[in-house]
Amino acid sequence: MIKRKTRAAILGLLLGCSLPVWSAVQPADSLYLLPQPKSVEMRTGVFRLNEVKKVSIQAPDSIAALIADYLPEGMKATTKSSKAPRMEIRLKPEQNGNQTDESYELDITDRKISIEAASVAGVFYALQTLGQLTDEEQKTVPAVRITDKPRFAYRGIMLDVSRHFFDADFLKRQIDVLAAFKINRLHLHLTDAAGWRLQIDRYPRLTELAAWRPQHLWKEWWKGARRYVMEGAPNAYGGYYTKEEIRDLVDYARKRQITIIPEIEMPSHSEEVLTAYPELSCTHELYKPSDFCVGNEKTFEFLEQVLTEVMELFPSEYIHIGGDEAPKTDWRTCPRCQKRIKDEGLKDEKGLQSYLVHRIEKFLNAHGRKLLGWDEILEGGLAPNATVMSWRGTEGGIEAVKSGHQAIMTPGQYCYLDGYQDAPHTQPEAIGGYLPLSKVYGYDPVPQELTPQEQQLIIGVQGNLWAEYVPTEEHAEYMLYPRALAIAETGWTQPENKSWKRFHHKAVQVTKDLREAGYQAFPLEREFGNRPGAGEVLKHKAWNKPVTYNARYWGTYPAGGDKALTDGLRGGWNYNDGFWQGFVSQKRLDVTIDLGSLTDIQRIQADFMQICGPEVYLPAHVIISVSEDGKEFTQLKEIKHKPVRNDEVTFKTYGWEGTAKARFIRYQALAGDEFGGVVFTDEIVVE
Ligand code: ACM
Repeated sequence: MIKRKTRAAILGLLLGCSLPVWSAVQPADSLYLLPQPKSVEMRTGVFRLNEVKKVSIQAPDSIAALIADYLPEGMKATTKSSKAPRMEIRLKPEQNGNQTDESYELDITDRKISIEAASVAGVFYALQTLGQLTDEEQKTVPAVRITDKPRFAYRGIMLDVSRHFFDADFLKRQIDVLAAFKINRLHLHLTDAAGWRLQIDRYPRLTELAAWRPQHLWKEWWKGARRYVMEGAPNAYGGYYTKEEIRDLVDYARKRQITIIPEIEMPSHSEEVLTAYPELSCTHELYKPSDFCVGNEKTFEFLEQVLTEVMELFPSEYIHIGGDEAPKTDWRTCPRCQKRIKDEGLKDEKGLQSYLVHRIEKFLNAHGRKLLGWDEILEGGLAPNATVMSWRGTEGGIEAVKSGHQAIMTPGQYCYLDGYQDAPHTQPEAIGGYLPLSKVYGYDPVPQELTPQEQQLIIGVQGNLWAEYVPTEEHAEYMLYPRALAIAETGWTQPENKSWKRFHHKAVQVTKDLREAGYQAFPLEREFGNRPGAGEVLKHKAWNKPVTYNARYWGTYPAGGDKALTDGLRGGWNYNDGFWQGFVSQKRLDVTIDLGSLTDIQRIQADFMQICGPEVYLPAHVIISVSEDGKEFTQLKEIKHKPVRNDEVTFKTYGWEGTAKARFIRYQALAGDEFGGVVFTDEIVVE
């Protein structure tokens, strides 16, 4: 299949499938290991794999059978003890197969491979590591002793299969890769306005109607009338997983130590449900409401019935109930919702959302499951046993753990894999932000401000691939790899063992190998990188000179504060990197720079960006003027530009060139009337 067939083998062979696998090189730091293990001690010599015919497994019979399934092709399991086995796998008897302990020891000498672990998962991970150590011909592994254990119990990737549908075979292919890098949770965003993706027997219209739409591209559907069509209609785009497919998928994932976590959105992001079953919304309108009517008992009947079928399919302890971005607007005028608020003594609509979350939590807990939701489930009071997935930054996670709850960190600025992974002009359209591999890798899920006890409640990290702008499976792989590898290492490796240089080196190799194996991974070796000069200091004639703000900047994006526009620091491909200063309330940037003395100047310029999604626009009108005394200004240049709404990420320099002598420089950049929004710049450069 691929050049590195051998190694593909080791992983593939573990799993009876053809996985890509990666090449080994010797010295400890350059061993082909990802994620980096806790401790790696090199020894001398190599072990020859073809000398292993039988693998001695010391574990209770039922567990030994599971482990036997993981063995490389050509190796047979035996539970009989032999005097000098060449390869031995031992489940620590004192741990009794403890399923939550994923640690392992892999000890390789030139004579023997020994694996010891507390659980099947630990053995599985030891064998993944062994696979990564195997040479290209699959003949040898270096002698080495590895003691390993994950930093976090929860290491997840979320796939949004609602906005665009990716089939079960695709999911299996991703499970193969994710498992090889020790990811252990796959969160499926199964329901949203763009399509319901799970067969539910009790409510057939969810898949007869709400799983199909007339446009393939989410963007076209979203900009249009947002209709659904019946299954089988000639133009129907979409799909869903049958129960049989889900059972098979869950089993496939389980064998690879991945738990699939289903997400069923409530109370919002539910237009598709409320069109299929309009009696569940406040207004009963088709295609419009996004929120379930929480005043209506039928809503709870629906949710509990659906969750019952969901729990039958997914053994996951966590059931994700969404909870994000509910507008709650209809609730304000809905007699039933208002009655519920009154009857239950709730404070307001946030209280009503909290009522729903509490009630659903009780239901899930009564069935032995735990509730997981986006951080909005904190609003109005968090349900007693809920776990929070922190996406709007880290605050939700911090608030959750400070009140004794567990949290999973997945803040948008580090973990949303739908942003551009490279210079926007080199990439297919994405949803906005710039999130290169280095930034994902640099994220530490444990906020510094937490006490040691609170830190224990941060149980993991997750990368989310939202699919609004990811219309195909190939594109999904492109967005996932290599960034999912950074999540994998952040989830597994202790922070002191992380190294960007080593990780990057390996990630380049892995993405090449993935492509050879038929995955559409981003070619990391050809990464363009950040905007030239980003984060570097550019010294120019206004460098470190005082700036007077005739209009205040936006406190949310202050960059370096009052010094930002002359600190020499240039911004990168996105406005949220701490170098771009935003102007919003007075719809203009208007500053005066004092150069301190009369100065010869030849150039004055500033860069702006446009990203229409978050309403960031190029200015419509720029005026550059100078003065000797700070009172009388002479206009040097006026630039007019008509901003147009488009899908591109655009950068543009507005400047003047010529000869002038001045002490004061005034730079004004006005937002347009039609498309205003935020104006961002990083530096006013004077030369
Ligand atoms: C989310 O991104 N709305 C969870």
